[in-house]
Amino acid sequence: MTDVSLEPAPWPAASFAPLPASVPYYLNAHYWWAYVHPRAVQVFERQWLVNLILWGNYPRLSESALNELGDELPGTTLQVACVYGDLTERLCVRAAAGCGRVDVVDVLPIQLENLCSKLPPEAPVRLLRMNSADLDMPAGCYDRALVFFLLHEQPRHVRERTLAEVARVVKPGGTIVLVDYARPRWWNPLRYVWGPLLALLEPFALDLWRNELTAWLPAACRARLRKRSFFGGLYQQLVIENGRMG
Ligand SMILES: C[S@@+](CC[C@H](N)C(=O)[O-])C[C@H]1O[C@@H](n2cnc3c(N)ncnc32)[C@H](O)[C@@H]1O
Repeated sequence: MTDVSLEPAPWPAASFAPLPASVPYYLNAHYWWAYVHPRAVQVFERQWLVNLILWGNYPRLSESALNELGDELPGTTLQVACVYGDLTERLCVRAAAGCGRVDVVDVLPIQLENLCSKLPPEAPVRLLRMNSADLDMPAGCYDRALVFFLLHEQPRHVRERTLAEVARVVKPGGTIVLVDYARPRWWNPLRYVWGPLLALLEPFALDLWRNELTAWLPAACRARLRKRSFFGGLYQQLVIENGRMG
């Protein structure tokens, strides 16, 4: 196992560690158009488009997640998977304000390269090619973690592994923020419009309509959590105080 050094910043944003990690089958099969294909980045790396896909909720959801982590982020913060738009840049500003640093892991080099190109050289960030279901990091090495709209893209067994890995690498007592889809309330028209579209384009997403996210959380994470709903229930945010594993 590669020992991930957690020396103080700066982590150069201009490069990322090309650790070997094969591309999970579901990304090639179902998300080639969004993340894998070289044209995907050209098409989707537009904040207005991401905001449109989220029905105008990108600023609200991202701001809420960042606020849960804190205005100033000392120590170490993990972002699991790249996100189109400026989320990571804003996370890095908060880390810099707290003299902390950020690691972003993603399994696709094209996504890490794109993120690299968006970040200022002084950002205290390290970009690592890793599978979220198999993080090559020691237990308890992060103070907090953010998982923004990743879990609905993953098949159940991968989602479970991702959550177990996040809980393992965040210190006991550390904060884990999850933001993702949820089942809209019965009166929300998007329940009837967005559901079929999600079923067509994102085959694992409706799992999050049928189950609470807690269904896939390790038991140690279920004791202390807060849930907040957005936009008639279509989106959820879970803020977890990580428990002691084992
Ligand atoms: C966070 S999700 C979607 C975020 C959101 N829809 C957006 O606006 O970008 C997309 C990222 O997850 C990454 N990803 C998917 N499965 C992964 C895995 N098992 N390990 C690491 N990264 C993964 C993809 O490569 C992609 O960069």
